[in-house]
Amino acid sequence: MDQAESLRKRMELRLAEPPAVYQKKAKTLAVISGKGGVGKSNLSLNTALALSKKGKNVLLIDLDVGMGNIDILIGRQTLYTMVDVLNQKLPFDRAVSTGPEGIQYISGGTGLNAMFELNRENWSFFLKELASVLGNFDYVLFDMGAGLSKNQLPFVLSADEILVVTTPEPTSIMDAYSAIKHLALTGQKLKIKVIVNRCTNQKDGISAFMRLSGTVNAFLQQKLAYAGPVPEDPLVSKAVVEQQPFLLKYPRSKLSRAVYLLADSLLEDGRAHSDENRSFIDKLSSFLRRGNTL
Ligand SMILES: Nc1ncnc2c1ncn2[C@@H]1O[C@H](COP(=O)(O)OP(=O)(O)O)[C@@H](O)[C@H]1O
Ligand SMILES: [Mg+2]
Repeated sequence: MDQAESLRKRMELRLAEPPAVYQKKAKTLAVISGKGGVGKSNLSLNTALALSKKGKNVLLIDLDVGMGNIDILIGRQTLYTMVDVLNQKLPFDRAVSTGPEGIQYISGGTGLNAMFELNRENWSFFLKELASVLGNFDYVLFDMGAGLSKNQLPFVLSADEILVVTTPEPTSIMDAYSAIKHLALTGQKLKIKVIVNRCTNQKDGISAFMRLSGTVNAFLQQKLAYAGPVPEDPLVSKAVVEQQPFLLKYPRSKLSRAVYLLADSLLEDGRAHSDENRSFIDKLSSFLRRGNTL
């Protein structure tokens, strides 16, 4: 076989390979906030459970790497965590645990300090593993750590949808605005939904959303959608102490009903299709190729 022929053969073989599309594409959701302590982890977990109760296959990834708490909220300790995935290149099939209602999750783990810089190789491994399981899920939720670190930004910008959690307090709204501004200034096309947590009533939630979306619209020309309010409820911290998700422990509470409505609002949008938007994996790998920075 001469050189040209062997080249042709190789080209044919490559063309015969199935294209790198993901048949059943999971919808990726990044749950973020301006500052910590507004309810991201509790809402990520309980929304994941609500989606699962509605028949969806859900993967929850605690991306508060090194300071994760999803396993504490679930009340089960996992053998492996995101720290092992990133540090030891532990494959997903060993890191993923089955939680209540059949949700799959990867704990954030402990033992990395916030300043730990992950290199591109760590993230590339994670990305490959993630790509290999995306087809198994309807929804993948990322519970992000506080603030938007350089490590986290590519995930948030690549997600099909960003869920911003705020409380009705003006300080929390301001923090949410700063986080959205940070994202909007990258020039990426973003789909953002807002959850107003710890509301005393419905009006509370709507007016907080209006304040935030009015400012974001005026100064950043970015539209926001309202995912809904979640009431202030002592059952949240009761469930945290009991280490059982409130949606399962107190299914008929106003609190759980509000989280089911959040899940409905996510379901309304249907699943993301890669036809119009670039897929999560495409976007994320191009961010990581550029050196994990923007
Ligand atoms: N809707 C709520 N009602 C009452 N307390 C809440 C509510 N949401 C969150 N909290 C309180 O805030 C704490 C922090 O929540 P968490 O989900 O860990 O926040 P984050 O992940 O944003 O840091 C909870 O342990 C609970 O005490
Ligand atoms: Mg958290």
